[in-house]
Amino acid sequence: MDQNEKEKCYEDVLQQVEAVLSAETDFIANMANVAALLHETFGFWWTGFYRAVTDDELVLGPFQGPLACTRIRRGRGVCGTAWVEGRTQVVPDVSAFAGHIACSSESKSEIVVPMRTAGGRFLGVLDVDSQYLATFDSTDVRWLERVVEKLVLSVQ
Ligand code: SME
Repeated sequence: MDQNEKEKCYEDVLQQVEAVLSAETDFIANMANVAALLHETFGFWWTGFYRAVTDDELVLGPFQGPLACTRIRRGRGVCGTAWVEGRTQVVPDVSAFAGHIACSSESKSEIVVPMRTAGGRFLGVLDVDSQYLATFDSTDVRWLERVVEKLVLSVQ
């Protein structure tokens, strides 16, 4: 997929996300539909959410794709790092990321976007995995952060 195509797909997906989120305020339901929309549109390997359930642990939330690990501690893996650092992580090659948690050997690159309320409360992360190396770039960061922003606003 070239950059223009990617932009167009994200524009379309964001419109669909907005439509779906405007009709529902339940966080789990909205995460589930956002995961489905992103996964179906882009054909990612794994697309889903981990929710912050305690001060130091993430638990698997709604997702599309193969079986995944259920709990991730704060600071562990790409997801736990996004939590500690409070910013999006782009990993072009998961084998080069120290501490990466391999839920599947098929996953080659990954992006993790933290979810925070306007008041700064950490809710969890959006995690997207690709079967190909270096799938995610600044375009994905920009659009997926917008998607997460809309998602968080929909449940406030
Ligand atoms: N690779 C992630 C774990 C979650 S799976 O990719 C679905 C990580 O290192 O945090």
